[in-house]
Amino acid sequence: MTQHHRNRFSGSVGFILAAAGSAVGLGNIWRFPYLAAKDGGGLFLVLYVILAVTFGFTLLTTEIAIGRKTKQSPLTAYTHIRKGWGFLGIFSCIVPMMILPYYCSIGGWVLKYFAAFLTGDAAAAAEDTYFTGFITGTTWPIVFFVIFLLMTAAAIFRGVNKGIESVSRILMPVLAILVLAIAIFSLTLTHTDADGTVRTGLQGLRIFVIPDLTGQTIGSFFGVMVDAMGQMFYSLSVAMGILIAYGSYVRDDDNLMRSINMIEIFDTLIAFLAGVMIIPAVYSFMGTEGMKASGPSLMFVALPKVFSAMGGIGSVVGCLFFAMVLFAAVTSSISIMEAIVSSFMDQFHLQRDKATVIILIYTLVVGVLVCLGYNKLYFELTLPNGATAQILDVLDYISNNILMPIVAIGTCLLIGWAAGPKTIIDEVTKNGSRFGRRRLYIVMIRFIAPVLLIILFLNALGILH
Ligand code: PFF
Repeated sequence: MTQHHRNRFSGSVGFILAAAGSAVGLGNIWRFPYLAAKDGGGLFLVLYVILAVTFGFTLLTTEIAIGRKTKQSPLTAYTHIRKGWGFLGIFSCIVPMMILPYYCSIGGWVLKYFAAFLTGDAAAAAEDTYFTGFITGTTWPIVFFVIFLLMTAAAIFRGVNKGIESVSRILMPVLAILVLAIAIFSLTLTHTDADGTVRTGLQGLRIFVIPDLTGQTIGSFFGVMVDAMGQMFYSLSVAMGILIAYGSYVRDDDNLMRSINMIEIFDTLIAFLAGVMIIPAVYSFMGTEGMKASGPSLMFVALPKVFSAMGGIGSVVGCLFFAMVLFAAVTSSISIMEAIVSSFMDQFHLQRDKATVIILIYTLVVGVLVCLGYNKLYFELTLPNGATAQILDVLDYISNNILMPIVAIGTCLLIGWAAGPKTIIDEVTKNGSRFGRRRLYIVMIRFIAPVLLIILFLNALGILH
């Protein structure tokens, strides 16, 4: 596809909502609140915000500017910046290819829970065995995965404006309203246990936002910092090609800095509100014990119990909650699929519909294997970080813990040293826009970001604790 015919977002609002749609995903909803509660509440929040305006800002700016400058997909962009760096493009195309099948399988789980709450099955969904019963089945996880994947692919077929942009323009504002409404509702909750203990949503909010420094040591502070850094890396959708693809659709006269600030604010705000929504609800009904649930079990086991304990209104809140998670997940999976489809379009000079069909078939095959990983293809593999893994976790581990840090470190070396930070600064300022935090950017991309990324990488490999 020539530069001349390349699709474009209609303006900065379309771009901001699409990129925010990519960033706001499952990570904001189950990962952020859980890490914040585990890591002394406010301390995690403060560190997260500091990292977002320094480290996050650097990575976000770099990838979006590479996209806009080269007008290329992730696979083909890096060689356009500098010959010999094309291998980074290959990695950043493999990352979304590994993530898409399992992200869509989890999207299928969300769809299943939405359907359960919609059809009045809330009580069943709160049973201990419901989640494992569902994912170890052979048929239904595949059915829901396929529906979710087709929803994603439908947007990609329709292209940048009619698909990605218009879906984000509708879903993102609705998502923001739903999160806000459920968060306010959560704060009004009060629950009395059988033994007469009363817990309120506001007490839960305190645990979430007030820094708890009791027992913090330098070592544990470092742990919180690594968690905040890892979460930000995951949450902003960097190092997986997406922002290069979306950046390549941004108009040359757009003010990039302003858009980047908005994307960061949106992503952080939704993550924070997800915490206000989840932590007070889980705390009032299950106390601090309930908050120990992490990852999928927080969303698919603990929360359905909370909704069921709320009585009649719980079915409505549960239904709205899973609708909201579904919107967050689908706008993210759309962006993951677009990173791959745009790469195939640019590399092999394919039309959008052909590239989409190829990626659809690929994702169907791998996604079915991911679903079967919980029954026919079940195994237990111990990962270097000590976790027990099935197919889904293996794909997640290799992409998030190995390939993404390599792409990010490589990008810092390419821009910080080989091509020079001026490449990015010139791109951002070429239409007269200001590059705020310019000095900070240079120091970050050359020195601090690579060091932070190496720490993350070693930690993820289990070499550094
Ligand atoms: N940033 C999105 C989220 O927070 O869920 C999307 C995403 C991030 C998808 C990381 C997959 C992933 F490994």
